[in-house]
Amino acid sequence: MSSNLGKTIDKVLADTRSDESDVRSATAPHQHDFPYDREEEAQVTRREFCNFLGLTSAALFVGAAGFAGKAAFDARRTPQLPPSKIEGAETLAPGSSLNFRYPTAKDSAILVRTLDGELHAFGQKCTHLSCPVYFERAHQRLECPCHDGAFDAKTGNVLYGPPPRPLDPISLEVRADGEVWAVGREAGSSEVLL
Ligand code: FES
Repeated sequence: MSSNLGKTIDKVLADTRSDESDVRSATAPHQHDFPYDREEEAQVTRREFCNFLGLTSAALFVGAAGFAGKAAFDARRTPQLPPSKIEGAETLAPGSSLNFRYPTAKDSAILVRTLDGELHAFGQKCTHLSCPVYFERAHQRLECPCHDGAFDAKTGNVLYGPPPRPLDPISLEVRADGEVWAVGREAGSSEVLL
């Protein structure tokens, strides 16, 4: 019984070796034209895998950076606001101001014609604690009465006091007939309009 088993095993091993040698002898003539090296193939596969990981990581990074950039852009984007005529602006004398509402009836704003004749407009809310600013003629600047803050009448920049940032600027358009229109308002860094 055991001798039969031994013969069977010997035969299977012999057949296997024979099959391997048959394959080698059958492929040998093509080795020159199509060299095949298992070790080298494994290295290429690892290299390709590393390239794949690298490309995947780069794609993920670019995608994340794109989303972050879009979010930052959206946060700073000025919303599209409908133009609104500022009544009485065309006759405003240099060195004086008038109040108006923009972009909605709840949003108070101030228009200033400075001594050089230029027009400048801003949201009227002080950027400290939202008191309404007013135009102080003697010093030609916008002042806040609540905590003694002041802003430049041309730029809206803080001149002194506790306000942490400039007034919200309002874009103006002077039309051919002399009418003055408010056409846009910059959203403050922490203020949502509309
Ligand atoms: S609210 Fe204007 S300075 Fe405080």
